[in-house]
Amino acid sequence: MAGTGVFAEILDRDVYKYYADGEWKNSSSAKTVAIINPTSRKTQYRVQACTQEEVNKVMDSAKTAQKLWTKTPLWKRAELLHKAAAILKEHKAPIAECLVKEIAKPVKDAVTEVVRSGDLVSYTAEEGVRILGEGKFLISDSFPGNERTKYCLTSKIPLGVILAIPPFNYPVNLAVSKIAPALIAGNSLVLKPPTQGAVSALHMVHCFHLAGFPKGLISCVTGKGSEIGDFLTMHPGVNCISFTGGDTGIAISKKAGMIPLQMELGGKDACIVLEDADINLVAANIIKGGFSYSGQRCTAVKVVLVMESIADALVEKVNAEIAKLKVGPPEDDCDITPVVSETSANFIEGLVKDAKEKGATFCQEYNRDGNLIWPLLLDNVRPDMRIAWEEPFGPVLPVIRINTIEEGIHHCNASNFGLQGCVFTKDINKAILISDAMETGTVQINSAPARGPDHFPFQGLKDSGIGSQGVANSIKMMTKIKSTVINLPTPSYTMGNGGHSKL
Ligand code: G3H
Repeated sequence: MAGTGVFAEILDRDVYKYYADGEWKNSSSAKTVAIINPTSRKTQYRVQACTQEEVNKVMDSAKTAQKLWTKTPLWKRAELLHKAAAILKEHKAPIAECLVKEIAKPVKDAVTEVVRSGDLVSYTAEEGVRILGEGKFLISDSFPGNERTKYCLTSKIPLGVILAIPPFNYPVNLAVSKIAPALIAGNSLVLKPPTQGAVSALHMVHCFHLAGFPKGLISCVTGKGSEIGDFLTMHPGVNCISFTGGDTGIAISKKAGMIPLQMELGGKDACIVLEDADINLVAANIIKGGFSYSGQRCTAVKVVLVMESIADALVEKVNAEIAKLKVGPPEDDCDITPVVSETSANFIEGLVKDAKEKGATFCQEYNRDGNLIWPLLLDNVRPDMRIAWEEPFGPVLPVIRINTIEEGIHHCNASNFGLQGCVFTKDINKAILISDAMETGTVQINSAPARGPDHFPFQGLKDSGIGSQGVANSIKMMTKIKSTVINLPTPSYTMGNGGHSKL
């Protein structure tokens, strides 16, 4: 159970502690932040409201710990990560319990998130050993005007202190996708978890603590964004920021200064459906892509662009599948569970109202109870409706009927987002052309958008992000190249038969 057994030390009465210097601590602020259960809408947990002074201390410790960590052999770093991965998987039940209570993730998905995270940590350890164990060797005489007098050896060195800010929808998985590459590459890591999801993240961090990482190498500060948000992202001790979330990322990137940024800021993933598509396959993927975790995924299908000739058949099929979705609390492993907050539910409702006023066809009646919103397909959506462009981050999916493929591509590319997209057709040649034309970081052919498997590159264009994620890309992003050049007094080919050396 959460906060008990090995996790008892992270809890003080009813408030979860923050993690610094290898210890669980109470904040000197004596203030707490409440975490509201999206289902009950009552306070579920409380976490420490850390102060700026505590952030400063964490940054100092991170800097000191990193200097030693970078001198720890790579195989030892990998060994510790494997250990953390095993501990994380061993404790999947209490961590999943937190995910259910804090972010209303259905039980099965919550367990999957923790297991996937353990696998991601192990995979990163293995990949890191390979990527970081290799460098380049360059010789000077390949560049015009040079003799063979310089041998250049390159290797990858850590950046220093990485600030990781994951979002509420994957507070464990999108935290470890930043923590593991940072650590294997020899960096230290400061985690600022989302408020909803903070307790799941604290449990996850405790698994790293139990694995025995050095003091100060990993820290986790909780608190109000208004108090420590900008302070963290603009902190001079931070050498790199890896952020996943919404518009805040744009603000961070403007303030962050001259440090590498890895950002994933959402999407409006289009699903283009051609006449020859397998309707059953499309419908199944629209359900999975549009409604899993109640649409609260940056890679969710967020607009269906279907050819008019098959639109009726597709809408009918999707409606039949929607009718099968179980709506209710995450504890019952329902498909559709309450969205993360009242603010979020109100925002979704605003999009629905706008679509209603502008004449969209409601395939189901709009139904809401607290933060629980029933799945809704909106047909005949037009570009003047907000839902055509904005991400609801909820179980509401617009369908726009198109008459040409170009129309679909045009709508996809007119979005300010460019995360993923998908196209359904049996014609692979057409699919490739469409993929080429879609201005998104990834295009899935005959499947819904998705980030995983976690070693695949994952990136967004335009407002969807900066840089590329995925295990290997994250490791590389959290390092820089260091060269050592061996300078010879004479070209190295001057010795031996035929050489020009006087030696
Ligand atoms: O919400 C953003 C996540 O990166 C999406 O990940 O495709 O595994 O759900 P997912």
